[in-house]
Amino acid sequence: MIRKGDYYDVSIEKLVYKGWGLSQVNQFKVFVPNSLPGDKLQIKITQKYRSHAVGLPQKVLSASPLKKESPCQHFNHCGGCQLLNVDYNDQLALKTAILDDCIQSTYPELPCEPKPIIGTKNTTYYRNKMEFSFAQQDEHCVLGLKKRGQFDQVIPIKHCHLQSIDSNHILTFTQSFFDKSPLIGWDYRQNKGCLRNLIIRHSKTQDTYMVILVTAQAHPEIYNDYAQALQQHCPKIKSIYIAQTMDQNERSYYESTSLIWGDPVIYESIGKYRYQVSPFSFFQPHSILAETLYNEIKSACEPQKSDALIDCYCGTGSIGIFLSDQVKSVIGIEENPSAIKDAQTNMTLNQTQNMKFYEGRVKNILKFNKFTANTIVVDPPRSGLVPKALKRICAVGADKIIYTSCNPNTMLRDLKDMAELGYKATQIQPVDMFPQTFHMECVTQLKKI
Ligand SMILES: C[S@@+](CC[C@H](N)C(=O)[O-])C[C@H]1O[C@@H](n2cnc3c(N)ncnc32)[C@H](O)[C@@H]1O
Repeated sequence: MIRKGDYYDVSIEKLVYKGWGLSQVNQFKVFVPNSLPGDKLQIKITQKYRSHAVGLPQKVLSASPLKKESPCQHFNHCGGCQLLNVDYNDQLALKTAILDDCIQSTYPELPCEPKPIIGTKNTTYYRNKMEFSFAQQDEHCVLGLKKRGQFDQVIPIKHCHLQSIDSNHILTFTQSFFDKSPLIGWDYRQNKGCLRNLIIRHSKTQDTYMVILVTAQAHPEIYNDYAQALQQHCPKIKSIYIAQTMDQNERSYYESTSLIWGDPVIYESIGKYRYQVSPFSFFQPHSILAETLYNEIKSACEPQKSDALIDCYCGTGSIGIFLSDQVKSVIGIEENPSAIKDAQTNMTLNQTQNMKFYEGRVKNILKFNKFTANTIVVDPPRSGLVPKALKRICAVGADKIIYTSCNPNTMLRDLKDMAELGYKATQIQPVDMFPQTFHMECVTQLKKI
């Protein structure tokens, strides 16, 4: 009988979703964060549930042959990456195994085999958006990423391998500016303080930046001084915002957002299409691989010139616009008002004339409108489809549904429910949009049976 606080020597069999290692203690599943297949570890049980337990490594008895020296000085503690100590080809093999494990645990009857994962040459410095957190540590205002597995602790970051060199300069400049200012970093336990987040967006194709400082208090003079100094330090910055929130949760909408320097939007391209992106609109985080992802979505759509297509969870309209010249008409549905505004502008920017956007939740827009479509593309947030949205998407009666997701667990859960409603998964294409982490994107084609 396993108990919290017990110590065990274990072998890590494989990696599963969240990037945790799986081991067995007396045939009981124990998940071990910060481990790799082949590791032999002494662990301490920190959580015990009915079906499984979680144990943290205490001592390495012998290290996995997959383990390499990580190039990042923060790797052992930072929550940003889980696989920066593994060769890229081995990372792809681990993700293939993670997807297989998700299938076995969520939908073992899945009627198709995933295709080999598509990787990328751009495995570091690839992200076009990073969100850092402020905190107060020993009289200092620090800025970095959350400590692995800790919501309330921040690792001050000197150099992050996921974002560009200029983004790193913006990060370190901001760290030192606010450490010298009277403003204090956020306390995540007591929910008080001033400075909360620094969001850096990078247009890879234009090599321009947008910076968003998220705070809980108004200090306009200090923020204006920061904006002037930052823009002089990094002239590639085209836009600086202050977003204010007193909300206790981390969130993506803010009570007030003001542009304090430069242009309101930045522009990014995917293939031949150009997109405006506002501070809080979603955009695929790996701009370079986004074209590959969208081409996979296009080929899964098997588009015909006579097709009517619905792009659910359309964000800035990027997928619908990418597909618009392949089909007769596109309807985009999105709940974020700023993303919908971007989508309207992007339609004009790309001289697309066969699109219409609806602002609202997918479940509501589909309830109050009678759409017909040959193909529906869905790209929901990590949590997947809520049951009403899933039912109403299937009720449209399209021949094909293309389900794109960054969370294989919720996607497989939904594929299983969609099978009950007459849609069979016919192909799954994983794409590695998130090198150095356990995350991946999957494009699934479902056909009406
Ligand atoms: C993963 S992003 C996909 C965006 C877009 N397809 C792309 O490739 O850039 C998910 C989008 O769904 C939107 N969203 C979340 N919940 C929604 C809902 N219930 N109804 C409509 N849109 C929603 C988010 O604002 C976000 O833009």
